[in-house]
Amino acid sequence: MASLPDQISQLRTHFMNELREATHSKDFENLKTKYLGKKGPIQSLMISLKDCAPEERPQFGKVINDLKQELALHCENSLARVKLAERNHQLEQEWIDATLPGRPRPQGKLHPITQALNKIVDILVGMGFSIQTGPDVDTDYYNFGGLNFAPDHPARDMQDTFYLNTELLLRTHTSNVQVHAMETYSPPIRIIAPGRCFRNEDISARSHVFFHQVEGVYIDKDVTFADLFATMDEFLSKLLGEKVETRYRPSYFPFVEPGLEVDVKCISCKGSGCRICKHTGWLEILGAGMVHPNVLKKGNIDPEQYSGYAWGMGIERLTMLLSDIRDIRLFTENDLRFLEQFP
Ligand code: PHE
Repeated sequence: MASLPDQISQLRTHFMNELREATHSKDFENLKTKYLGKKGPIQSLMISLKDCAPEERPQFGKVINDLKQELALHCENSLARVKLAERNHQLEQEWIDATLPGRPRPQGKLHPITQALNKIVDILVGMGFSIQTGPDVDTDYYNFGGLNFAPDHPARDMQDTFYLNTELLLRTHTSNVQVHAMETYSPPIRIIAPGRCFRNEDISARSHVFFHQVEGVYIDKDVTFADLFATMDEFLSKLLGEKVETRYRPSYFPFVEPGLEVDVKCISCKGSGCRICKHTGWLEILGAGMVHPNVLKKGNIDPEQYSGYAWGMGIERLTMLLSDIRDIRLFTENDLRFLEQFP
């Protein structure tokens, strides 16, 4: 077996060779464990001291200890040096120019239908109506029966209505909320109901299976036709501008009596006739009327004591008229070139 000084100088040479090859901080950690760890050669040398003559032990012990310290110092120094270099390298990689101008991010916008709904709802809430949302999936009773539709009314036909089963359907209008409201509250009732509607129609530039309406209903003592006119005029002038002119035409809906349709003077041609108003000078905006006594009765409201008015308007149609949009399908196609035109 080699003498202790030889073993020591061999160990040092091996160590120094390995040290030269080490590059990463990890390598130095490993080297330290390898040489100075509990199972390392220095420790074995320490253990082998017990085989020396007792008088040699202190001297050899010191030599081994010195070596241990020497190697540890090498490791520490190299490790510190490499760690510093690594950190500098990392900082260089992470360097950013804080003076660079930011990259603009595309900003989302509200869908034109949401914008129109928000505007309409804001106006009506300001006029004292509270918001009620009804179910999109409802029963035949709430969509038709409770609204005085005769059992054989053509609107119930499979052609128009998406039935989910014999009882459930996708509501064809927001008027179902009227029935729910009358069941839930007692008069005075003053609500609006914005929401989605569905009709089983062929999709074309003018009609879609999916659209939005805003419904309104007001029931109280002594509500008259004059209240309906005043409310509609006030609402439409807030929506379309002070100078808007309205026209009321008789019309038929099973749940109102009398029923009407409300037109506004064409916003585009001011009444002289253009493509948008189909050369009539007027735009049909909403359906309305006095709540039918049968509907009140079904809602447990005494028609001798109470009366009310209701109206409903299609939001896609209104937005198309106001913004001269010629194809209703644009609203659901998610084409950014279209949507970005509504800031
Ligand atoms: N629900 C009717 C429709 O969808 C509109 C309407 C609502 C008419 C309320 C009168 C009263 O066409």
